[in-house]
Amino acid sequence: MAKKVGITDTILRDAHQSQAATRMRTEEMLPACEVLDSMGYWSLECWGGATFDSCIRFLNEDPWERLRTLKKALPHTKLQMLFRGQNILGYKNYADDIVEMFCRKSIENGIDVIRIFDALNDVRNLEASIKYTKKYGGICEAALSYTKSPVHSEEYFVKLAKELVQMGADVVCIKDMANLLLPYDAYSLVKRLKAEIDVPIHLHTHNTAGTGDMTNLMAIIAGVDIVDCALSPLGNGTAQPATESLVATLKGTEYDTGLDLEKLSQAAKHFANVAERLKKDGFISEKSTKINPNILMYQVPGGMLSNLVSQLKEAHAEDRYYDVLEEIPRVRKDFGYPPLVTPTSQIVGTQAVLNVVSGERYKMFTKESKGVLAGEYGKLPGIVNEEVRRKAIGDRQVITCRPADLIEPEFEKCKREIGELARCDEDVLSYALFPQVAKKFFENRAASEKKQADENIVKTLYVEDMTR
Ligand code: CO
Repeated sequence: MAKKVGITDTILRDAHQSQAATRMRTEEMLPACEVLDSMGYWSLECWGGATFDSCIRFLNEDPWERLRTLKKALPHTKLQMLFRGQNILGYKNYADDIVEMFCRKSIENGIDVIRIFDALNDVRNLEASIKYTKKYGGICEAALSYTKSPVHSEEYFVKLAKELVQMGADVVCIKDMANLLLPYDAYSLVKRLKAEIDVPIHLHTHNTAGTGDMTNLMAIIAGVDIVDCALSPLGNGTAQPATESLVATLKGTEYDTGLDLEKLSQAAKHFANVAERLKKDGFISEKSTKINPNILMYQVPGGMLSNLVSQLKEAHAEDRYYDVLEEIPRVRKDFGYPPLVTPTSQIVGTQAVLNVVSGERYKMFTKESKGVLAGEYGKLPGIVNEEVRRKAIGDRQVITCRPADLIEPEFEKCKREIGELARCDEDVLSYALFPQVAKKFFENRAASEKKQADENIVKTLYVEDMTR
């Protein structure tokens, strides 16, 4: 029987997050929504990840308003978001009541599918978001944060996937954020997962190292149900493999996606103009559009490499680039092999820079490094170097419970703190996640509304005067 492969297009989220610093505006999405909505995608990833932060920090947009607008413009397509488990869309653990309210409001405002992951694959950090996604009627897609290390065997991921299904996952995602999953490994992992679990498998990879298309194809041959792609103007490079190429590849085969190449081309035409604008404004660099096979050697995600360059520039130590690249795997080993994804990628990367630039390994620790070693982010997958841990946190007790159990409810406190500047629960959530940025956003919003109201009064008075 023919097996139709589902496609999730990431053009409205990961594609511009990976290639263009998450700077696509809502008004640049809307003209393409009608054709996108008619495509027959399995889903459109359009929210969460860094888009929320970017909306309020850089684009002066209310992310909740974006979501409602997209829902209206895309009534026939499932909308998907990326959710960092207990970190939600931020960089630290939040209380369970914030997680609950965020799941609820995301779904109420238009999200259908919530993809949930934890940087350490500590399932206790996924418990609350899985539970509340289901409570409010969302489709729960729980993710394996894919990485390579002596602890991260195929066995490890199969066991983890089974746990996620037991916890209530409707779909299991293999989240290969760094394009480390090689085509033959993808084939083997998907085969095992299909044999051992009953829910659909969704593959998310990037084309950072240039192996993304092959990985998708091998996973499809092994029976994967859904894959992530991005329309070509912002596809490939550090983003997902291009949608059109895969659709053409599968056309007429037993894996046909059913998507129409003419329509895809129509949508791509629009996003080519958007990409042109983003390039003109300096958000797309050659680094993000070209492939970089070096990451297969260092197993460092593409986004981390560009961070590294700017950190070293600031420290006037650009010549230590390769020393830091070699230090990253050593720090990762000392820290018990965390997968390198937000926020652990930044934490391990910064520690590696400190180790190299300061001239002595572990002379200094960042607050976040200490937090990771103290168990604040959850259980580390492998064995931690105890000498390094002692140096970082001394005799402090390592946290072994679910980290969020130590956090008091936060929602009411945030609501009181932000006061009248917040007009709805959604505003309180924006404030809970990004206190300073959200507060500034609300203040600007109030100021521009006041200005608008004043102008309207002047206009009315003027009209009255004219008619007198
Ligand atoms: Co991604």
